[in-house]
Amino acid sequence: MFASVLLITLGLCYCSQENIQSFLGRPQLFSPPEALLRSVVDIECKLNTYPKNESILLQLYKEGNRERLLAEYTALAGETATFPIFIRQYHEGNLECVAKAQNNSKIEPTVSYTRHLRVVVPVKGAQVFVDSGHMEFFEGKILELHCKLIAGNHVSYTWLLNGQPVSQSPHHRAEGEKLLITRTTSQDSGSYMCVATNTFNGTDVFTSNSSEVLITVKEMVSHPDISFSVLKEDSHNYSAVVTCQSTKGTLPVTFSLYNRTELVANTTVGERNAEFKVPLVLGQHLGWLQCQANNGDEIAFSKRIPLEVVPVGGPVTMHYDTDVGENYAVIGLRLYCKAVKGTHPLYQWFLNKTLLHDRGSFYYVVHQPPEQSVLLLSVGTSSAGTYHCEVSDSFDNATAISSTRRYLVKEVLNRLPFLGVAVVFGSFTFLVLLVSVCCWVGVVFRRRQFGEKSMASLEMVRMKPAYEGELDLSDYDEDVDLMRTARGEEFDQGAEVSVHEWPQNVRVKKTLEDEAVEES
Ligand SMILES: *[C@@H]1O[C@H](CO)[C@@H](O)[C@H](O)[C@H]1NC(C)=O
Ligand SMILES: *[C@@H]1O[C@H](CO)[C@@H](O)[C@H](O)[C@H]1NC(C)=O
Ligand SMILES: *[C@@H]1O[C@H](CO)[C@@H](O)[C@H](O)[C@H]1NC(C)=O
Ligand SMILES: *[C@@H]1O[C@H](CO)[C@@H](O)[C@H](O)[C@H]1NC(C)=O
Ligand SMILES: *[C@@H]1O[C@H](CO)[C@@H](O)[C@H](O)[C@H]1NC(C)=O
Ligand SMILES: *[C@@H]1O[C@H](CO)[C@@H](O)[C@H](O)[C@H]1NC(C)=O
Ligand SMILES: *[C@@H]1O[C@H](CO)[C@@H](O)[C@H](O)[C@H]1NC(C)=O
Ligand SMILES: *[C@@H]1O[C@H](CO)[C@@H](O)[C@H](O)[C@H]1NC(C)=O
Ligand SMILES: *[C@@H]1O[C@H](CO)[C@@H](O)[C@H](O)[C@H]1NC(C)=O
Repeated sequence: MFASVLLITLGLCYCSQENIQSFLGRPQLFSPPEALLRSVVDIECKLNTYPKNESILLQLYKEGNRERLLAEYTALAGETATFPIFIRQYHEGNLECVAKAQNNSKIEPTVSYTRHLRVVVPVKGAQVFVDSGHMEFFEGKILELHCKLIAGNHVSYTWLLNGQPVSQSPHHRAEGEKLLITRTTSQDSGSYMCVATNTFNGTDVFTSNSSEVLITVKEMVSHPDISFSVLKEDSHNYSAVVTCQSTKGTLPVTFSLYNRTELVANTTVGERNAEFKVPLVLGQHLGWLQCQANNGDEIAFSKRIPLEVVPVGGPVTMHYDTDVGENYAVIGLRLYCKAVKGTHPLYQWFLNKTLLHDRGSFYYVVHQPPEQSVLLLSVGTSSAGTYHCEVSDSFDNATAISSTRRYLVKEVLNRLPFLGVAVVFGSFTFLVLLVSVCCWVGVVFRRRQFGEKSMASLEMVRMKPAYEGELDLSDYDEDVDLMRTARGEEFDQGAEVSVHEWPQNVRVKKTLEDEAVEES
């Protein structure tokens, strides 16, 4: 065997010397585009053009790394080199095949075009890591989760929250192996799991599910509302039951009640409200109360309210206004009930001494505590009767104070507009009278001023028959006298000019009168 090899080698040597001018063509490389880790893949290299009787060495490398020979093969006379490769991750990349003439350095080596090989490492051992290490924190913080793998490449990741895919949003970004939630809310709480996947040949899918990691995003307690009700312990002993109530926040919550800066009471509860009982003296200002709520992060404050309970005090008044429909008929009434004082009043309405509930066929009640209560009525036969209201302390119904009673019936109410009309009519008559008087004064005044100075204007006046018709000249003198009396009383002092002018005026009148008589 060795002898035959030697013989061939010698022969090749011999002929290579014969074909000094020979050259090598470009080798062709055949490889699948992808391969699975630890599988054995045949990669082939073939030289189509080659010198006769020359033994050719075909070598497999990764592009750019001639240090590390992946495989080689000595081919004779157009043989195809087959490299059985046990695939490692290192093999991923651009492969190339180099052809050389063995023992003939005068022939230039040639290189194939590169072929890319993708090596798929199936995913294995996915696990979720929380970047900050905190599984429980308050909303608003950043949550960064990593999906770490023991093995796997060309991986795509899916994130699940309580079994449902985490949807992308400006605050939820999945990038590579990371899930970043930039502004967490309590809705981001739950069990997180990552699913790592890669595929080979479009047919084999590898998946690795991480175990679940429980994240709790705590909600900050919201600003509590504060209110109190009054409790009558016995005849002379009252308490205020102060309620602090938040609408949101992870439980448990510690509520504290403060009187200005002084802690009155505190309690930690598994609900979002707490009650505190404090002793109360009616009619006294007992400080300013505030609730504070805390569930581990920042303290939430309520507004401050005065602790002061003023019992209801009279008199209780009931007044009303009306809604007027067609023909000035009253169709609706609004009755208002008010007490002079009282911070916790309870209003009650009565018709013929029967308590009216919040709503009936012809009425409804609008409470506007503590100021007043309004009873809206539609006026009709069923609404007729005697109305009154009562105000008592909401915590003590024994203290009711009643308003005066009012008999309200349609006919009585509708008398009002007639009175109104009468007043309006009266005023109108008065106005007409007043205007007439003013006119007379005006006319007289003008005549007096223009009397002798401008006979021309009088001529013009005379030429207007309409004016003459309107002017009842027979009464004129009387009126002048009247006016004189009035003037004498009102404007006498320092009105010398006027006094001097009077005779002229009278003369003018006389002239006019004469002329008028003449004309008629
Ligand atoms: C090539 O030359 C080497 C020594 O340079 C020798 O050992 C080998 O046998 C030769 N091979 C052929 C095929 O001639
Ligand atoms: C190749 O070698 C064989 C014998 O081994 C010989 O007969 C032949 O002529 C050689 N061809 C060339 C082209 O050198
Ligand atoms: C790749 O997929 C094709 C079908 O799409 C199949 O015929 C072939 O055997 C697969 N190759 C490997 C290496 O699994
Ligand atoms: C991985 O999770 C997916 C989605 O929840 C599920 O369909 C699949 O069965 C799980 N696989 C394993 C091995 O748990
Ligand atoms: C008021 O009532 C409370 C509860 O019933 C009681 O504890 C307290 O001693 C009473 N105070 C007075 C002054 O009666
Ligand atoms: C409640 O008040 C007591 C006494 O002031 C104090 O020691 C305690 O720490 C407070 N508890 C809370 C939860 O604030
Ligand atoms: C609040 O404080 C004032 C004095 O600072 C005190 O008179 C009042 O009784 C206190 N009120 C309560 C409810 O503790
Ligand atoms: C109330 O009493 C008056 C008589 O005083 C009566 O006319 C009216 O019908 C009564 N109204 C109702 C609703 O009972
Ligand atoms: C006051 O309230 C109590 C309990 O709600 C009730 O039993 C009582 O009849 C009421 N008294 C009056 C005068 O309304």
